[in-house]
Parts: sequence; structure tokens; C-alpha cells
Amino acid sequence: MRILVYRFEIKKSSEIKTYGEEIMSNITVCVRFRPLTSKEKPHSDDSVCIRCIDSETFIFKDEKDEESMFSFDKVFYEKSEQADVYQFLALPIVRDAANAINGTIITYGQTGAGKTYSMEGPGILECDEQKKGLLPRVVKELFDSINLSEEDMTYSIKLSMVEIYMEKVRDLFDLSKDNLQINESKSRGIFLPGVTEVSCFSKNFISQFIIITLAFRSYFAVYN
Ligand SMILES: Nc1ncnc2c1ncn2[C@@H]1O[C@H](COP(=O)(O)OP(=O)(O)OP(=O)(O)O)[C@@H](O)[C@H]1O
Ligand SMILES: [Mg+2]
Repeated sequence: MRILVYRFEIKKSSEIKTYGEEIMSNITVCVRFRPLTSKEKPHSDDSVCIRCIDSETFIFKDEKDEESMFSFDKVFYEKSEQADVYQFLALPIVRDAANAINGTIITYGQTGAGKTYSMEGPGILECDEQKKGLLPRVVKELFDSINLSEEDMTYSIKLSMVEIYMEKVRDLFDLSKDNLQINESKSRGIFLPGVTEVSCFSKNFISQFIIITLAFRSYFAVYN
């Protein structure tokens, strides 16, 4: 499994909160079910293994017909929209980020579960407003929040993109850095010494940078 990490570091001219305060206290865990793909549909029968109880709880029926109940902060069933996931999960993190409070969004699941779809959308060049994933929405909101903030505030935004694969952290902006170390300090929290950081001035700049890097990553994954 490859894990892709997009990291925005935001510094605000006023007070910067230090790692380890209330920042660590808010963790939200959600689950998302995706619809069957067109390839899967012909091979599926009509038996339902997930039964909705409400927006936080579902029942899972296993192959022995035994039922187990699971609860999360939110369950996104297969009809959920990208906007629903963004509103519940990402928007509060982006609002905090604009106040220099660290935030992280992690997608986890087996191959084909829908991680990339949720993060990016159906394709990196896909611009469909309804289907676009968390990443383009986060970038837009980040700049909108900053543009709405008080005038005497200055912000600097830096973007890094790394991939974690086979226990190694690789810098997607500089593939020669293929084994970055992970450090932790009281003032900076967890950081990657030597990772490439790109200063970002506009949402279009970030979007294009990410698109080019993801395209390059796909090429690299196929041909290397
Ligand atoms: N919520 C959804 N609605 C419609 N299609 C979806 C949804 N989630 C995923 N898909 C589709 O399911 C397929 C697998 O999704 P995706 O590529 O995002 O999986 P993944 O978890 O990133 O897998 P991998 O670990 O192999 O990268 C894709 O064809 C994707 O378009
Ligand atoms: Mg993927």
C-alpha cells in the first residue's frame, strides 16, 4: 500500500499554537462505503452485507450471517456526495488551519476502497464540481479563509508532497530524496528534515503543482 501525504504548513503572523496543546484532542473517525463499480456489478448478487441504522451506526453481516454493529463519528453510505464528506470532515480542519492549528486528513483502506476517489476525485484532471475530491476543495477554502481574514495578518503557505511506501518516505517533489527521516520536536511537532517545500501564492498554483506531481507519480509508478 502506498500512502500519499500532502502537507500544508501555514504560518500566521500572530500567535502560533504549539504542538501538544488542545491540538491533539480532536480526532474524528468516519467510514465511507462506495457504490459497486461497473466491473463489479455483473459479479455481485443481491445480498446486502451492510444495513444502515443511522448516520453514525451500521450493521455488518459476515459470510456466516453473523451480525456486528459498528459506530463512527459519521457513516457515509454509498449515496454520499463528495461535498458531504468535505463539509463534515475537512471544513473544520481547514478553518483551524487558517488559524495556524495543525490538522491531518488520512484515508485508510484496502486497495480499491475509494481513498484516491475521496481525496482527489475520479481523476486528477477531472474538474467536475460535484465529483471533485477533498484536496481541491481544501485548497480553495484555505485561500478563501485567508482572504477573509483581518488585513494586518500575513500568511505563508508551503506545500510538501511525500509518499510512504515500504516503510520509506519519498519526496515527490525531488525523487532523489527517497528515504526521508521522520523527526519530532516540541515546537514543530512531527516534521521531515530536508523535505522539499514549495511556497504557494495562489490556489491555481497549488492545484497545478499537485496535478503535475500526481501525473508524474503515476508515470513513475508504472514505468519504474
Ligand atoms: N464514492 C465513490 N463513488 C463512485 N465511485 C467511487 C467512489 N469511491 C471509489 N470509487 C471508484 O472505485 C474505484 C476504486 O477507487 P480508488 O481508486 O479511489 O481506490 P483506492 O482506495 O485509492 O485504491 P488503491 O489503494 O489501489 O490506490 C475507482 O474506479 C473509483 O472511481
Ligand atoms: Mg489510490
